[in-house]
Amino acid sequence: MAYEMILVETQGRVGVITLNRPQALNALCDQLMTELGDALRGFDADPTVGAIVITGSPKAFAAGADIKEMKDRTYPAVHFDDFIGKRWETVLTIQKPVIAAVAGFALGGGCELAMMCDLILAADNAKFGQPEINLGIIPGAGGTQRLVRSIGKSKAMEMVLTGRMMDAVEAERANLVCRIVPAADLIVEAVKMGEKMASLSAPSVAMAKEAINVAYETTLREGVRFERRLFLSLFSTEDQKEGMSAFAEKRKPSFTNR
Ligand code: CAA
Repeated sequence: MAYEMILVETQGRVGVITLNRPQALNALCDQLMTELGDALRGFDADPTVGAIVITGSPKAFAAGADIKEMKDRTYPAVHFDDFIGKRWETVLTIQKPVIAAVAGFALGGGCELAMMCDLILAADNAKFGQPEINLGIIPGAGGTQRLVRSIGKSKAMEMVLTGRMMDAVEAERANLVCRIVPAADLIVEAVKMGEKMASLSAPSVAMAKEAINVAYETTLREGVRFERRLFLSLFSTEDQKEGMSAFAEKRKPSFTNR
């Protein structure tokens, strides 16, 4: 498929999607979000791909929703178009792990897109923020909810109510990102992480990410019950037999995703 606002490639078993609208710091316009959704679905359906990386440029992962595109929209227009819901949430439906590899600005919808991914790997120049309050709006792609769950209420309040940005060190300390790597190594490190996930049994990787994501949305009791169901169901796979037999036989497992 011909894309205009993203670049799509595979590196080994990892699908890499690069947001590519440098003149607008990867502002997330409708076309870009539609292309991103299509590319994500494409990699999810591709059996040769085991994990997906979303990244941007060294200067910006994404500077937010496209302010110029949305500034004149009316309430009925955004309501009936299901703005955000229709184009932005595809990433939440992807079964394979999705890694956000963030360098530079991840602001507003850019920070929210990163948080919708399964985890965030940060370059040492990454900057995270929810500056919507400066525009007379609030975060609209889950920022007020996901930030609280990952960094807690006080820090989320400060970021959302003042628009202050967090650098990579603070973001790691606050548990917004899993790790910081030098900016020059960001893609290599993200792909390496994706390769590790892709080398494992796909059903267990998909279920593990699903179970962790459920922790965001339910009570502990329900979450543990959900995890237990998935855990027990994995005893029906050939990969569970292979993984455990390989351990007992002191050899490397050979997973077939069955
Ligand atoms: N939408 C549209 N265009 C944007 C943009 C955005 N979110 N962010 C940057 N751009 C454009 C700028 O208008 C500029 O275009 P021109 O050259 O045509 O003027 C170009 O990208 C480069 O930007 P700057 O000249 O501003 O670059 P800078 O290095 O001086 O500043 C920045 C960088 C601090 C990120 C600044 O661009 C900025 O503050 N951007 C807006 C950030 C923001 O408010 N994001 C939230 C958007 S609302 C949202 O996301 C809602 C939601 O929750 C879904």
